[in-house]
Amino acid sequence: MTEQPRTLAKKKPIMVAPSVLAWDLSRLGEAVEIASRGKADMVHLDVIDGHFAPNITFGPGTVKALRKTSDLTFDTHLMISEPIRYVERFIEAGSDILTFHAEVLNAESFDLLQGMVHAKGKGIGLALKPQTELPRWAEERLDSLKTLIVMTVNPGFSGQTMDMSVMPKLERISALIAEGDYETNIEIDGGVEPENVGEVVRRGGNLLVAGAGVYAKKDPVAAIADLRARATAARGGA
Ligand code: DX5
Ligand code: ZN
Repeated sequence: MTEQPRTLAKKKPIMVAPSVLAWDLSRLGEAVEIASRGKADMVHLDVIDGHFAPNITFGPGTVKALRKTSDLTFDTHLMISEPIRYVERFIEAGSDILTFHAEVLNAESFDLLQGMVHAKGKGIGLALKPQTELPRWAEERLDSLKTLIVMTVNPGFSGQTMDMSVMPKLERISALIAEGDYETNIEIDGGVEPENVGEVVRRGGNLLVAGAGVYAKKDPVAAIADLRARATAARGGA
């Protein structure tokens, strides 16, 4: 019997996570509701502290308020310089997945965060800016990651164009995850649009964050299904 390559043997489900930052910020609850109606797999919450990246968005109070409105999985992308200081507050606010940036961590601080997140039964993620390579300490911890965010824009703002120069890194990371047979979802964040989802999933991405790619469309509910259908088709229908 011929052995199937692992990449084919274990395809991760295509998932869509609308990023509410692209909606009218005075009506974030509505953005979450749109994600629900569009049968999104999760909703992506971008927390930026004005220090790690040049914008300030919202904090745990907003996450908590949104939590009351929805049962959707909250994928909280913490673009903050001091994650250890704030992690508990985001857990208590109702985040399901807490993703931290590799640029502000090392093995020791990651392990500390992991302990805190897993103690509360939540998932941990790691994010990389476009220019950041996967650090060695992170490579050794891939099996503990629920998600690995490969950013395809510089953190800060919705509505930027995807940086295609990240694709070779995405392929390398996808290969590592496939070789290790890890459950880690490969999450692509930044400039995801109907026109580029095919490319992104062919390079190994399976969890698609989309801000403008959902909320700037005429019919955001339909845009979620459209992204999913295009991504699935690009992988040959699975
Ligand atoms: C950027 C954020 C992204 C962004 C995605 O700092 O991490 O999640 O909001 O928005 P689009 O899809 O519009 O690039
Ligand atoms: Zn994000």
